[in-house]
Amino acid sequence: MTTIAPSAGKYLGTNVHLLPQTDQLRALHTLVRDRNARREDFVLHSGRIIRLLIEAGLNLLPFEPYDIRTPVGGTYPGLRLAAELCGVPVMRAGESMETELRAVCPGMPIGKILIQRDPVTKLPRLYYAKLPADIAERHVLLLDPMLATGGTAVASVELLLEHGVSEDRLVFVNFIAAPEGVTAVCERFPRVRIVTSSIERRLNENAYMVPGIGDFGDRYFGTDT
Ligand code: URA
Repeated sequence: MTTIAPSAGKYLGTNVHLLPQTDQLRALHTLVRDRNARREDFVLHSGRIIRLLIEAGLNLLPFEPYDIRTPVGGTYPGLRLAAELCGVPVMRAGESMETELRAVCPGMPIGKILIQRDPVTKLPRLYYAKLPADIAERHVLLLDPMLATGGTAVASVELLLEHGVSEDRLVFVNFIAAPEGVTAVCERFPRVRIVTSSIERRLNENAYMVPGIGDFGDRYFGTDT
């Protein structure tokens, strides 16, 4: 297991919820990080990890008591979600997570954000956003599998806050994160929570995470040939 950089490690358990590093999760990571993985295997197994992340993200939302009767006449002292939700994938890689979110929460409103680095200024630039009109009343699952420098994540969170979403109602669901990205988001937005399945060692000179996974969007959508 890699040691987590202290700059990101200090947020663990408060702002950052790292999935339990079970053998099963590490075996799934082994399948998808392999540079020789076939695309269908990449899609299948990254989807399995994303499903775990979505469930962990839902676990951070408010629940209320809700008793039900079982088929044998017993009462189960249950719980149900006590929040209106909305998913917001960051195009394009975030759309890989939308598929899994829709499978778990069919009917949930889904917004969209497209933010990319401007080739001239090198700063994140908003190209497109479509969000539910009542997003300020909702808890939001922001979906982006890659948290590298944090530029896109910070710009996405800012956009959602501008639309009235409250910081503590925002859960950023992420596949792998660089310490730099974790620090950028947590320092700027101390009440936003991040769910991730791995914190990587570092960024390389091209802002790719190491050991990393390569270009997630290209590998998922098959545009890397
Ligand atoms: N985006 C990716 O797809 N991979 C990285 O490692 C960093 C950003």
